[in-house]
Amino acid sequence: MTQLSAAQTAPQKSSDGSKALYGGKGTRRITVRDITAAKERGEKWPMLTAYDAMTASVFDEAGIPVILVGDSAGNCHLGYETTVPVTLDEMTMLSAAVVRGTRRSLIVGDLPFGSYQEGPVQALRSATRLVKEAGVQAVKLEGGERSHEQIRLLVESGIPVMAHIGLTPQSVNAMGYRVQGRGEEAAQQLLRDAKAVQDAGAFAVVLELVPAELAAEVTRTLHIPTVGIGAGAETDAQVLVWTDMLGLTGGRVPKFVKQYANLREVMGSAVKAFAEDVVGGAFPLEEHSVH
Ligand code: KIV
Repeated sequence: MTQLSAAQTAPQKSSDGSKALYGGKGTRRITVRDITAAKERGEKWPMLTAYDAMTASVFDEAGIPVILVGDSAGNCHLGYETTVPVTLDEMTMLSAAVVRGTRRSLIVGDLPFGSYQEGPVQALRSATRLVKEAGVQAVKLEGGERSHEQIRLLVESGIPVMAHIGLTPQSVNAMGYRVQGRGEEAAQQLLRDAKAVQDAGAFAVVLELVPAELAAEVTRTLHIPTVGIGAGAETDAQVLVWTDMLGLTGGRVPKFVKQYANLREVMGSAVKAFAEDVVGGAFPLEEHSVH
């Protein structure tokens, strides 16, 4: 799982011939400085969530420069209805697995609801666990102006922070799952939130479910990269929840998701075939037996 593939060691160039974020002969992990440099040269990059070592190793080997151990693990991995019940213990365990499964991707661990809202000191204590016990290289937390003190202390303490504004799922009980930043007042607030997290020292900011035009304006205004999810095509990076992107999530997925595979169907038919083989005696055969 931790072997480097040919794709990881082969020199890669971006389309304009410059050095790509996940390219070159490098075998070291991507850092937040590499992310900053990518914004400076106008390179767009992909981010995916992951919650376990094996899935994360596939994404790393495929060239995903940044992997988020999102608290979407709550809905997509742990069987909760929302991200609200996810605990810091759970995030620490999942983040450690993702770190163990990867070699090059920058791993960002999500601070779950209740682990930073009390204030900067609580945020530092929680982030320190993710960095020391799980080995993540950065943390993410939700909130703009309301979280700027937390971001500032973490950054001053040497912990890179990815901020998250727009729709913030940990506040689902207060805001629901609605588009954010519509209308002049809400748009101005989103811009203030974006500037607040940049001023506090965040190295990147997730913009979730905001109008494409507003996300484009935020992206032009900030010098740190914006990572869009349901925020149009003009952000510096794009993130998707992996179970949505690969079609493992059952039921409806949000409009902004593009499905690149239907793993639910692939896995379902394989499992049915296995069950039929066992019931009908077609598995195991002689070739699967030892003597
Ligand atoms: O937890 C998560 O997966 C996220 C992404 C949607 C950005 O926060």
